[in-house]
Amino acid sequence: MKHIRLFEPIRINRLAVGNRTVMPAMGLHFTDDYTFNDRYSAFYRRRAHGGVGLMIVGPLAIDLVGGAPVMPGLFDDSNMQTIQALNTELHRDTKAKLGVQLFHMGRNAPARLFTGEPALAPSAVRSRLTGDVPKAMTEEDIDRVQVSFVRAAERAVAAGFDFIEIIACTGYLISQFLSPLTNLRTDGYGGSWENRMRFGLETIRRVRAAIGPDVALGIRVAGNDFMEGSNTNDESALFCAEAEKAGVDAINVTGGWHETLVPQLTQAVPPGAYAYLARGIRDKVSIPVFASNRLGDPDVAERVLRSGAADMICWGRPLIAEPDLPRKVREGRIDEIIRCVSCNQGCFDSIFLGRGIFCAVNPTVGREGAAVPAADSSQCRKVFVAGGGPAGMQFALTASELGHAVTLFEKEKNLGGQIPVAAGPPAKGELLHIRDGMVGRLLKRNVEIRCGRPLTVDDVKRGRPDVVVVATGAQPIAIRVPGSDKPHVVDAWDILRGDVAHIGKKVVIVGGNAVGCETAEWIATDGLPDPETFMFLSCHGAEKSEKLKTLGICNGRRITVIDMVDRIGANVGPSTRWVLMQSLKKHEVQLRTGTRLVEIGDDAVVVETDAGRERIEADTVVMAVGSRSVNDLVEDLRPLGVEVLVIGDAKTPRKFSDAIAEGYEEALGI
Ligand SMILES: Cc1cc2nc3c(=O)[nH]c(=O)nc-3n(C[C@H](O)[C@H](O)[C@H](O)COP(=O)(O)OP(=O)(O)OC[C@H]3O[C@@H](n4cnc5c(N)ncnc54)[C@H](O)[C@@H]3O)c2cc1C
Ligand SMILES: Cc1cc2nc3c(=O)[nH]c(=O)nc-3n(C[C@H](O)[C@H](O)[C@H](O)COP(=O)(O)O)c2cc1C
Repeated sequence: MKHIRLFEPIRINRLAVGNRTVMPAMGLHFTDDYTFNDRYSAFYRRRAHGGVGLMIVGPLAIDLVGGAPVMPGLFDDSNMQTIQALNTELHRDTKAKLGVQLFHMGRNAPARLFTGEPALAPSAVRSRLTGDVPKAMTEEDIDRVQVSFVRAAERAVAAGFDFIEIIACTGYLISQFLSPLTNLRTDGYGGSWENRMRFGLETIRRVRAAIGPDVALGIRVAGNDFMEGSNTNDESALFCAEAEKAGVDAINVTGGWHETLVPQLTQAVPPGAYAYLARGIRDKVSIPVFASNRLGDPDVAERVLRSGAADMICWGRPLIAEPDLPRKVREGRIDEIIRCVSCNQGCFDSIFLGRGIFCAVNPTVGREGAAVPAADSSQCRKVFVAGGGPAGMQFALTASELGHAVTLFEKEKNLGGQIPVAAGPPAKGELLHIRDGMVGRLLKRNVEIRCGRPLTVDDVKRGRPDVVVVATGAQPIAIRVPGSDKPHVVDAWDILRGDVAHIGKKVVIVGGNAVGCETAEWIATDGLPDPETFMFLSCHGAEKSEKLKTLGICNGRRITVIDMVDRIGANVGPSTRWVLMQSLKKHEVQLRTGTRLVEIGDDAVVVETDAGRERIEADTVVMAVGSRSVNDLVEDLRPLGVEVLVIGDAKTPRKFSDAIAEGYEEALGI
């Protein structure tokens, strides 16, 4: 597909933006004292140079009570010099327009922890994120917070930002005023819809009055709160129409609140799923509207623009993973893109855990400022890499970039290691982009790739490399209990590869970590109508909506996951675990903790729990009990005295994020 609309210029008020790509605000947690430090500057500098049209820096806290020390502050002048200098530099050296998000979390702020004061909100409704009850704002509080928005906006203009965005989404302060769930006030700021809009609209008017008519001003709204009893796309569109009258020049439409049970950011969200929210708002306003969430596939983004759903598209995580995304798309270098796979492992999960972000697929994220010196020809080393999984491929990429002579050996026909298996479960197919992007970049480098044969000791003797990298990965563990060699006992990896032809009606999965749970989901959804079939049945009225719902739930299999531990899915990241658990519940998968496999019979397994022994009927038993490193090569190479490095799962079975990070780190060190 040609990406034409993505690179058309656009105006927001008087601001001329060179293309239709927006990097939305994303909390990076690179500080713990409100400082906009060098790490932020380096992160944003790298993205501005990648060709993005409008880069929204932030969130930046407008005051102490609504923010947190993990985000830089714009509530005083302490960051002004740094931000001013960065903006001046980026205006000089890049074409990116620079925006800023002004942030107030309302009841969701961890204010008590950091300021000793309660969080502020329209009403004293407990936050589900902090567990704390906020103080219902008095009129003085309302005035003070609005003044803080105004002062921060004035600072933003003085710091050289071209675009100011007020956050009015995600269940933060302004959305709390808009929603009947969190706004129980009986004064002029609560009750009727007009009253609930008042705080947000007043804030917009006051900011507009302070910054003058010409500075581009935007708001970020929830396209639909996706909360029972709260605002939908219809109310959001009404608010946006009023916001336009109050003085905003652009509307950035994201999805629902943090607390919603409708997934917003995971792989379960189909690419482009929320473009309709932007369309619903674009129909009601005459200013540019941005669509957001899961638009990282450039074809999907282009189609959203062509369809008229939005005027600009947001690339959040896709620009974390690939700072050069706009440039590569514009230049048609699609195969070289480091594609975000929406795994959330390094970004959103880190935020949940209160840590600075990293990126599972791009190990340079968060260390953009660190110099990576290329090896001169005298330091150039001959490197053999055994294993073409993510660890080996990343090592080969980084080492070749540094000027070393790299040969990559993969014993299978294709590169990728476990990635095709990991991409097997429902909604995880995008993980294949990890392999494809790495292969695409390897093919552009001077790396010799030898697939279809293992690296052997003889190869090393003959080739005399300076370094051998053992990135030979892992294999599934087989546990031994009576009956474990029966033909109806299969491995989860084989199921996910699609290699098991007969799966029965009563399935027991042994092992309740990520692989066990994802295999349960695979089996539970196997054979259910696909989205196209649902669309067909629904559009033609072939089945009633109740029947459609049940069609999507059960394929007639009874699935039980057993594990000895007391928490199923414990190694799944916090931002995705609940989605997986919700899906297993929907598909009526039984989850049994504290349950140990004792024996496998022909039509049942015997398990042991605190209550004693028990039979669970099973005509298929799936083993998902973890994996063990494959690294025999290390011992075999020892007599040769060659330098050997062991990386990735070959060292310890973990995740592709570890494999990629280790491949990068170790390659820097040779
Ligand atoms: C079902 C499943 C789901 C997963 N989901 C996730 C997830 O959501 N997130 C996540 O971060 N991780 C996930 N993982 C784990 C992740 O895939 C692995 O941690 C990662 O692939 C390890 O990378 P690696 O390069 O170290 O090893 P591997 O991917 O195992 O690659 C090793 C390669 O070495 C090759 N090899 C072996 N011996 C030789 C030899 N002598 N010579 C040449 N080549 C050789 C093998 O054929 C293989 O291709 C999942 C894994 C599975 C099985
Ligand atoms: C680590 C992280 C932090 C985020 N913080 C914010 C934020 O502070 N303000 C905001 O409006 N959106 C925030 N978001 C949401 C993103 O702006 C964006 O809407 C979301 O990632 C979906 O877009 P994507 O699929 O292109 O990543 C955050 C997202 C991530 C991954």
